[in-house]
Amino acid sequence: MRLTIRDIQKMKDNGERIVMLTAYDAVSARVSEAAGVPLLLVGDTLGMVVQGHDTTIPVRLEHIIYHAEIVTRVTQRPFVVGDLPFMTYHISPEQALRNAGRLVQEAGVGAVKLEGGEHMAPTIRRIVQSGIPVMAHIGLTPQSVNEFGGFRVQGKEIKTAQQLLRDAEAVQEAGAFAVVLELVTAPLAQMITEKLDIPTIGIGAGPNCDGQVQVFHDILALFDAFIPRHTRRYANIGDMMRAAIAEYVRDVQSGAFPTEANSFTMNDDVLLALRQTEVNGSGDR
Ligand code: KIV
Repeated sequence: MRLTIRDIQKMKDNGERIVMLTAYDAVSARVSEAAGVPLLLVGDTLGMVVQGHDTTIPVRLEHIIYHAEIVTRVTQRPFVVGDLPFMTYHISPEQALRNAGRLVQEAGVGAVKLEGGEHMAPTIRRIVQSGIPVMAHIGLTPQSVNEFGGFRVQGKEIKTAQQLLRDAEAVQEAGAFAVVLELVTAPLAQMITEKLDIPTIGIGAGPNCDGQVQVFHDILALFDAFIPRHTRRYANIGDMMRAAIAEYVRDVQSGAFPTEANSFTMNDDVLLALRQTEVNGSGDR
């Protein structure tokens, strides 16, 4: 049975830390489910870690639908959240609702995530009132990287910290079932977590959020354009892949692969007959 937003809320109420990880395809989704991840995010980080862009801005709704459909189809238990990409919810609450509806209907996600605080409250309310759960995302919101002037920690000054507190309360009041706090100073993230009834999911927001989210490719060292300080590499699969593929290249070049064990035989009589037709020139043409 697939988990629901009620199960996620229960985790906060019971003091159980919530684990969220991004997934973009059958491999990342299946291994994450097998490892016990309860909450999967088909995030627009796919623009950077899958598509190779420098930011998440080029990602389109069709891309998230494509990847999210795979993740929901190959998993049974995790609750799956799909990201609304840049400019798919900014124009009006109606536009946002239409696109959130497509993600639910065409990809089968249980909820959508969108970036923005107080100013996005009417949009969150519109989507939630139509029966689609919304995960909010405040702090460093990567779709606004050009306005922030880089991927910078948020909430260091009194004014920005106060605004983040207002953002957190506004998204909860608008009906969000959880909120991602990205690159928010740890003491402020703790204050927000204590203030809100809904779960906070941190990424670069310290240890005192209700849960943590990380990018699949970061924790496995599959993304190496840069290493974000907020991540931890639990394995270096990138190095393992490079070493394995280099060995494959060497084996093909040296003739060490394939061997008999990787090849398929045919009946000797058939082979003999085939050779004779080739010699006699009587093969059917
Ligand atoms: O797109 C994404 O993967 C995200 C997480 C980093 C929170 O928004």
